[in-house]
Amino acid sequence: MIEYVTAGESHGAGLVAIVTGLPAGLRIDRAFLDAMLARRQAGYGRSERQKLERDRAVTLSGVRKGMATGNPITLRVRNRARTLSKLPAVTRPRPGHADLAGVLKFGHGADARDVLERSSARETAVRTAVGGLCALLLRELGVTVTGHVVRLGPVRFAAGPLDRAARDASPFHSLDPKGDAKAKRAVDAAARDGDTLGGVIEVVATGVPPGLGSNAQAAMRLDARLGASLLGIPAIKGVEIGLGFGAAARRGSQVHDRIREGRDGRIVRPTNRAGGIEGGMTNGEPVVVRAAMKPLSTLRRALESVDLERGGRKDAHFERSDVTAVPAAAIVCEASVAIVLAQALAEKLGGDSLAEMRRNYEGYVAQLAPRWTAV
Ligand SMILES: Cc1cc2nc3c(=O)[nH]c(=O)nc-3n(C[C@H](O)[C@H](O)[C@H](O)COP(=O)(O)O)c2cc1C
Repeated sequence: MIEYVTAGESHGAGLVAIVTGLPAGLRIDRAFLDAMLARRQAGYGRSERQKLERDRAVTLSGVRKGMATGNPITLRVRNRARTLSKLPAVTRPRPGHADLAGVLKFGHGADARDVLERSSARETAVRTAVGGLCALLLRELGVTVTGHVVRLGPVRFAAGPLDRAARDASPFHSLDPKGDAKAKRAVDAAARDGDTLGGVIEVVATGVPPGLGSNAQAAMRLDARLGASLLGIPAIKGVEIGLGFGAAARRGSQVHDRIREGRDGRIVRPTNRAGGIEGGMTNGEPVVVRAAMKPLSTLRRALESVDLERGGRKDAHFERSDVTAVPAAAIVCEASVAIVLAQALAEKLGGDSLAEMRRNYEGYVAQLAPRWTAV
């Protein structure tokens, strides 16, 4: 079983993750992980600090001579701003953040600092590195996962070909350069008003064999697991698989993907409205999921709140914040989907080494033939 846990605060020494279950013999490509972390920090609408502070993932255990040993892997991403002991109390909880619920829950009285430090999306840096490890495993088995932004506040991006280089070149991690110009204007307008913007991210996974996840138990359904992983990202408030909410308004004949047999016996689906998942399992088509991100909660033009220390009405605490982090969240969503797919693939194939997993994968592909070949 591939599992992970993270620890660390936004302004503490750094973030760590312990990842278990990755196979021995997996090459740990540090440049691949760092490129993913750099993408998470990129994007229009983020502060200059993000661009100055390049995150790096180092491994403290479980890797020798660049290869996973099969032992638990400890990842560490250092914080540049290690100022936690000097930071002020947070006595005016920010609406839309964990501040108020957290002080009530943990009995922190009038100071939400400890809550803020852990619920900050800084944690997603190390989560993205975990996703990077999982993406390395998926890459070995021919699976590619790509997150891109399809909506930024009021701007919808046109659907371009799924080209990772084009996505990386876009300041919004979109596939629509014309849309990028409109989105810049929307972000600038929000910034002028001291406001923030949300958006929608799509993640597509190609090369996914059928049969990941299971119809047998609710908790094994792949759609349930993808939903939990994506909703586990701060500020993600909705998840759709395939047509998602759009399916509700259509007739069944306009929703379900017909099944055809190709000349070679291969199963052909003329459409993929199901987003590659039927009955809680992958069906051999690309997996397509979307996540809705709410606008960032910390507003320069702060919202009404209360002073927990002195009582009475006060504007919410303001701590450095961006106008939008949807482009960054696209990478976190990509990482979160990679984690779930790697977990489901490892569960399907078993194996303690990459060589054993690969043999099992080849055996499974032979079993699937001629019905499925990677798409
Ligand atoms: C990549 C990423 C970056 C974020 N950056 C900020 C930020 O700069 N300011 C902010 O107020 N919220 C930011 N958030 C969102 C908050 O972390 C989140 O809204 C908050 O923790 C409350 O969680 P909830 O929205 O899931 O209830 C970010 C989220 C992500 C995924």
